[in-house]
Amino acid sequence: MVQTICCIGAGYVGGPSMAVMADRCPGLDITVVDLDQQRIAAWNNLGRGSLPVYEPGLEAVLSRVAGRNLRFSTDVAGAIRKADMVFLSVNTPTKRNGHGAGQAADLTYIEKAARQVADEARGSTIVVERSTLPVRTADVLHRIFANAPGARFEVLSNPEFMAEGTAISDLECPDRVLLGGNCESSLDDLQSIYAQWVSPERIIRTNLWSSELAKLTANAFLAQRISSINSIAAVCEQTGADVDQVRQAIGSDSRLGHHFLKPGPGFGGSCFRKDLLNLIYLADHYGLTPVADYWRSVVEMNDWAQQRLARMIVRQLFGTLRDKTIAILGFAFKADTNDTRESPAIAICTELLREGAHLAIHDPCVSEQAVQQALAERQAGSPQAGAGQGSFQVQHRIEAVFDDADAVVLLTDWAEYGELDWSRLAPRMRRPGWVFDTRRGTDLAAARACGLETWAIGSGEQF
Ligand code: NAD
Ligand code: UGA
Repeated sequence: MVQTICCIGAGYVGGPSMAVMADRCPGLDITVVDLDQQRIAAWNNLGRGSLPVYEPGLEAVLSRVAGRNLRFSTDVAGAIRKADMVFLSVNTPTKRNGHGAGQAADLTYIEKAARQVADEARGSTIVVERSTLPVRTADVLHRIFANAPGARFEVLSNPEFMAEGTAISDLECPDRVLLGGNCESSLDDLQSIYAQWVSPERIIRTNLWSSELAKLTANAFLAQRISSINSIAAVCEQTGADVDQVRQAIGSDSRLGHHFLKPGPGFGGSCFRKDLLNLIYLADHYGLTPVADYWRSVVEMNDWAQQRLARMIVRQLFGTLRDKTIAILGFAFKADTNDTRESPAIAICTELLREGAHLAIHDPCVSEQAVQQALAERQAGSPQAGAGQGSFQVQHRIEAVFDDADAVVLLTDWAEYGELDWSRLAPRMRRPGWVFDTRRGTDLAAARACGLETWAIGSGEQF
């Protein structure tokens, strides 16, 4: 019976998922470890500062389990030695250099973590893949463990399906828990943990490769729906149709459903793009070029969705952004998270800066340092680095971004932007003034009543 768990990786998945597991399984003793000392210190700072991950409901769960049966530590080796089961929740970004750069997953972190498990584990240890991995990564792990002298290993796949912003409810009431593996007794051990709060019909068992592929496929299908609706939003704008009416009509078809049909500035987040690229790389590797091209088009549509918004804003503002101030509402890739990885705001702001704009950026949760880092990294990686003449400033008070702004661009679907008091904010702006709503997230009728020109994604009745 499993009693002691070590989770390697204290990030957006490792922290919240182990907090919920500790909460639901008081008999388990769980240690979450990470090489990043600052991250571990922040997790241990509950109630005294901000946690490394902003997630509604997370603090309440942590306050029940921290110090009881959940610990955060930098002692990776010590936690592995004590564990019956090791979860691998490390990051798996897209490779930046060398063979497969820009597409293949960078397995450096997973390999390092596995080697440390091989060196430190004692006795019989179940190793569980929680990170999203290329299909057949379990083979790599088996080979690393085959050379380990001190222990016997079984590898299982248990990909995580939570979304940021709703992580706690997703983890507490998952649509399904997927367990992949070839060893029935190890699968039973893992299932007996989830069975403490997940009903049996929601626990699916498959072989290792189906489990690894199902995770990539789920993200690819979700991303595909967003690219699909964003493509239709652009058609709506040209034809007089309205994307909200179209999505209501098609979502009512029970075969299609209403979820994941909201148009926006393109999907962001750390996973959709990297997992699509991972699938494309896999298809190319097996010579399945039409399959790779099919999924490539989902990524291309997403890039286009972001570029077209930046170009449209420049066009509406008379073709130049020099000496113009643009208020940016939202920098996180979606509401209810402080995560900016692959946020559409990064690509769109970079384009606007390149056109010479001054950006006044507001986000209720993203720190100034995170905005600076994201924009600096993007500009450094761009072929036109240095071309931008623009500048930006992060404002914590929302009113401040409206001061002398020529335009407001809503990029993240934070609820508070739906409640903006335009009669108070619009007079702070220059005229003519514009509002570009890429999320259908604010009251444009109220903005229009204050004399502003408005644009909403997917609306055929613009300007
Ligand atoms: P993250 O970058 O937030 O966290 C990963 C952590 O692992 C980092 O803190 C890093 O320091 C640590 N780490 C890396 N190598 C290590 C090592 N050898 N020893 C100890 N610590 C190490 O990443 P994340 O968002 O939590 O994602 C983790 C994995 O889960 C990825 O594969 C991702 O695709 C997948 N996933 C993420 C989400 C999500 O919502 N973020 C959801 C489902 C699945
Ligand atoms: C996504 C999946 O939803 C999770 O199931 C998965 O576990 C996770 O990726 C992962 O593997 O990391 P996440 O990226 O956190 O979760 O957030 P989503 O809610 O999926 O949103 C992703 C992006 O799509 C955001 O930029 C969001 O604004 C956008 N989106 C989402 C839309 O533009 N329209 C929609 O209808 C839904």
